[in-house]
Amino acid sequence: MALTKNLSVYFVIAVTYLAAAQAATFNITNSCNYTVWAAAKPGGGIRLDPDQTWTLNVSSGTSGARIWGRTNCTFDSAGNGTCLTGDCNGVLECDSFGTAPNTIVEYALNQYNNLDFYDVSVVDGFNIPLSFTPLTNNCTRSVNCTADINGECPSQLKAPGGCNNPCTVFKTNQYCCTNNTCGPTDYSNFFKTRCPDVYTYPKDCVSGTFTCPGGTDYSLVFCP
Ligand SMILES: *[C@@H]1O[C@H](CO)[C@@H](O)[C@H](O)[C@H]1NC(C)=O
Ligand SMILES: *[C@@H]1O[C@H](CO)[C@@H](O)[C@H](O)[C@H]1NC(C)=O
Ligand SMILES: *[C@@H]1O[C@H](CO)[C@@H](O)[C@H](O)[C@H]1NC(C)=O
Ligand SMILES: *[C@@H]1O[C@H](CO)[C@@H](O)[C@H](O)[C@H]1NC(C)=O
Ligand SMILES: *[C@@H]1O[C@H](CO)[C@@H](O)[C@H](O)[C@H]1NC(C)=O
Ligand SMILES: *[C@@H]1O[C@H](CO)[C@@H](O)[C@H](O)[C@H]1NC(C)=O
Ligand SMILES: *[C@@H]1O[C@H](CO)[C@@H](O)[C@H](O)[C@H]1NC(C)=O
Ligand SMILES: *[C@@H]1O[C@H](CO)[C@@H](O)[C@H](O)[C@H]1NC(C)=O
Repeated sequence: MALTKNLSVYFVIAVTYLAAAQAATFNITNSCNYTVWAAAKPGGGIRLDPDQTWTLNVSSGTSGARIWGRTNCTFDSAGNGTCLTGDCNGVLECDSFGTAPNTIVEYALNQYNNLDFYDVSVVDGFNIPLSFTPLTNNCTRSVNCTADINGECPSQLKAPGGCNNPCTVFKTNQYCCTNNTCGPTDYSNFFKTRCPDVYTYPKDCVSGTFTCPGGTDYSLVFCP
């Protein structure tokens, strides 16, 4: 009995220690001259006025994760409200992904060979320019989408506060890739020309996914 209890205490300590040792930190900074409501799943969300930083810790092994920004939000004191772009079911602390248009950072930690995988995606449209940069482990491959996508957005894709992806607007297989075979289009090329390192359509297999050793920390800057 006592032995079992002791072992489980050691196990909890060991697991806690490993998780702490391998957790990744994301420094998320708003360099825009307007307020951004940063959002993360997992992680929640927070209001970032210009020059504010949110330090987000994420456990090792996290996958299928996203970080994005929301604009023109209003929330009540309970954290219920709405955002013009990137809204996540009307709550300040997101527990679901955002709605298009939103520029997205996607990542998975400690995957194959203990590598982190990350990319920037405009497959759900674009709202805020951003850059994503590894900070530690000698990992240096920064990715960004900082062109004036909103200003140059094709008229059919224009949305309040951003530039939609064509799937959101036209809902056809060609753009949404529901049959799993689709190629680049004039619309995806609009994004690709301006942001060559990012995912621009559902089956885009650019050299758009990057890796770092597990345990790397990262920085995300809105309006770098
Ligand atoms: C992340 O941000 C925090 C708070 O601003 C800062 O103390 C820390 O040095 C930053 N980390 C890195 C690696 O830049
Ligand atoms: C923010 O910056 C943009 C581009 O530099 C400028 O046009 C705009 O007036 C600025 N807005 C504010 C509120 O400072
Ligand atoms: C995040 O992790 C860093 C480094 O381990 C630690 O210094 C910081 O206190 C943690 N912040 C939060 C909010 O948990
Ligand atoms: C969103 O907010 C910005 C600055 O906070 C403002 O300039 C802009 O008009 C707002 N957009 C809409 C559609 O409300
Ligand atoms: C906020 O939203 C949650 C979830 O929808 C709901 O349970 C809660 O009652 C809301 N609070 C207020 C003050 O509206
Ligand atoms: C980063 O690279 C330098 C020079 O090659 C090396 O001395 C250092 O140990 C490396 N650091 C890490 C964390 O890998
Ligand atoms: C964005 O990425 C491109 C291509 O890698 C690079 O040339 C440019 O300097 C980057 N811009 C910013 C603001 O990081
Ligand atoms: C899937 O959709 C693409 C683009 O619309 C089309 O060219 C292709 O023929 C479709 N493939 C199948 C198997 O339906």
